[in-house]
Amino acid sequence: MNVGNRHYRTIWLKGQDRRTVQIINQQILPFSFEVIDLHNVEDTARAIRDMYVRGAGLVGAAAAFGIYLAALNAREDSFNEEMAAAALLLKSTRPTASNLAWAVDRMIHALAGSRGTLEQKREAAKIEAQAIADEDAEFCRIIGIHGLGIIKKISQKKERGPVNILTHCNAGWLAFVDFGSALAPVYAAFDQDIPVHVWVDETRPRNQGAGLTAWELSEHGVSHDLISDNAGGHLMQHGLVDLVITGADRVTRQGDAANKIGTYLKAVAAKENNIPFYVALPSSTFDFTMLDGLKEIPIEERDPQEVRNITGKTEKGTIETVQICPEATTARNWGFDVTPARYISGLITERGICKASEKGICELFPEYFRAQ
Ligand code: MRU
Repeated sequence: MNVGNRHYRTIWLKGQDRRTVQIINQQILPFSFEVIDLHNVEDTARAIRDMYVRGAGLVGAAAAFGIYLAALNAREDSFNEEMAAAALLLKSTRPTASNLAWAVDRMIHALAGSRGTLEQKREAAKIEAQAIADEDAEFCRIIGIHGLGIIKKISQKKERGPVNILTHCNAGWLAFVDFGSALAPVYAAFDQDIPVHVWVDETRPRNQGAGLTAWELSEHGVSHDLISDNAGGHLMQHGLVDLVITGADRVTRQGDAANKIGTYLKAVAAKENNIPFYVALPSSTFDFTMLDGLKEIPIEERDPQEVRNITGKTEKGTIETVQICPEATTARNWGFDVTPARYISGLITERGICKASEKGICELFPEYFRAQ
C-alpha cells in the first residue's frame, strides 16, 4: 500500500545484504511515520510484545523473520538449540493469533529439512521467511477480490448512496504484510469506483481503529467516519450499516472467530438487525486443532493501564498519556473475544467464501480435515 506516493509493506529485509529486518513502528501511528530496524530475535520478540507490529498476519510474518534473525546470529555447534529457544521466545509474546505459532512452526520445519553448512541454513531461513511474507500479501490480495463480490452485490441493490461498511479494530494492510483482510475488499471496491464508506470503530483500549484504520483509509482516500465503540448498534438500527467485515486472530474448525475485544457485540447487533457479518482471514488464521472457540481459544489479558489511561496528541503536538479514572480504580483488559459461528454470515478466505461451519470450511480446505 502507499504512504504518500511510496509503496510500503509493513515488514521487509533491508538493503543489499538483507541481514536486518525493517518494520513500520505502529506504536506511534498516526502521529508519526517511522521505520525501525530489528537486528535479532530479541528485538523481534519485543516488537511483537510491545505492539510495534501487531495484527494476526503481521505478527506471523514478524515471527518468521525473527527466526531468520536468530539463524543469522546462531553458532554452528548450537544451531538447533538456539532455533528452539528462539521459537519458544517468539511464541511466548502473544497468545491469541494463530498466525504467530503457525509461522514459527513452519520456519522450524523448513530448517529441520535443510541440511548443509551454517550459511545454507541461514539462506533457507531467509527464503522461508520471505515466502511466508509474500504468501500473506498475496492471500490478502485475493481475499480482496473475493470480498469485492459481496460489496458489488450490495451496491447494485442499493438505490443511492455508498455501501456503508462497519469494521472493528484494524484488519487492514497494517495488520498484515500488505492489502489487509477485512479492508482488502473495501480497497478493491474503492479502486473499481464502487462508492464505499467505512464506519471505523475506535477500538478501545488501544484505539487501533482511530489510530490505524482511519490512517490507512485516509492514505488511500476512502471515505470514512470514526465512531465510538458503542455507536454501531444505533447505526444498524437506523439502516446506516449495509455490511460488517472484521478480521480474525484465530478461527476454529467449526468457524468460531476470535478477534479484537468488542467484535462479538457487533456480531450480535448485526444478527438482530439482519445485517450481513463477514469475517475475512487467510488460511494461516485457522486453527484446525480447535473446535469450540469459546472453550478453547486462549484470550490475551493485557496490562490494565491500557484501560485506565488513554494516549493522544495534545494541542501543542506532543504525544501524552493521561489517566481517565479515579486513582484507586482497578481495571481488567481482555484483548480479544470470540464470536460464535452462528453469528457469522460467511468467511472470506483466499480460496473463496464459505459458511462458518465445519462443513463449509472443510469444502474449501479438505486437506486439513483429512490430516486430523
Ligand atoms: O491486538 P492487535 O492489534 O494485534 O489485534 C488485531 C486484531 O484484532 C485484528 O482485528 C486482527 O488481527 C484481525 S486482522 C489481522
